[in-house]
Amino acid sequence: MDTNRLSKTITSALNDQMTKEAHASQIYLSFGAWAESEGYGGISNFLFRHAQEERNHMMKILEYILKRGAKVKVTAIPAPPSDPRSIHDCFEKVFEHEVDNTKGIYKLVNMSHDEQDWATWNFMQWMVKEQTEEETLAMNLLDKLKISGGEKAGSESLYSLDRDLESEPDDAKLAQDVTADNP
Ligand code: FEO
Repeated sequence: MDTNRLSKTITSALNDQMTKEAHASQIYLSFGAWAESEGYGGISNFLFRHAQEERNHMMKILEYILKRGAKVKVTAIPAPPSDPRSIHDCFEKVFEHEVDNTKGIYKLVNMSHDEQDWATWNFMQWMVKEQTEEETLAMNLLDKLKISGGEKAGSESLYSLDRDLESEPDDAKLAQDVTADNP
C-alpha cells in the first residue's frame, strides 16, 4: 500500500526549498565570517545566529516531507556569493536573498492550493509568516543603516549598529501579533 501523501511535484518543490534554506544558511554563515574578519563582532554574531535559524527551516521542511511519507533528497548546496563590499551591501544582499526565498515559499503555497493539498498548504502558512518576519527584519536593518548614512555610514554609526545587533532579537514582531499587553 502506498502511504506517500505528497504528489511528485510537491515533493520536488519541497526538496528544492529545503536546499534553498540550506543555501540561505551558508550565505549567513559566509557573511558572518566576513563581518567578524572586518571587526564587526555584533553583526557577525547576529548573522551566525541567523545561519542556525535557516538550518532549522531546512530541518522543518525535511521533517515534514518524511512525516508525509515522501522521499527526502539531500543535494549539493550552491556556494554563497562573494563577500559583501560593505555592511550596507551585506544587508542589501541579505534582503534580496530573503525576497528570493519568499518566491520559493509562495510557489509552494500556490502549488498546494492548485492540488488541494491542504496539509501542505497549512504547513506552508508557518513558512509564509516566518518569511514575513525575516523580510521585516532585513528591512529594519536597512532602515537603521539608511538613517546612519547608508553606504556612507560613518564608523561611529557602524560601531553602535554593531553593538545593537549583538543583542537584537532574531525575529521581528509583526503587526498582527502585537497586542496592547504585548506591544
Ligand atoms: Fe528560511 Fe530566511 O528564510
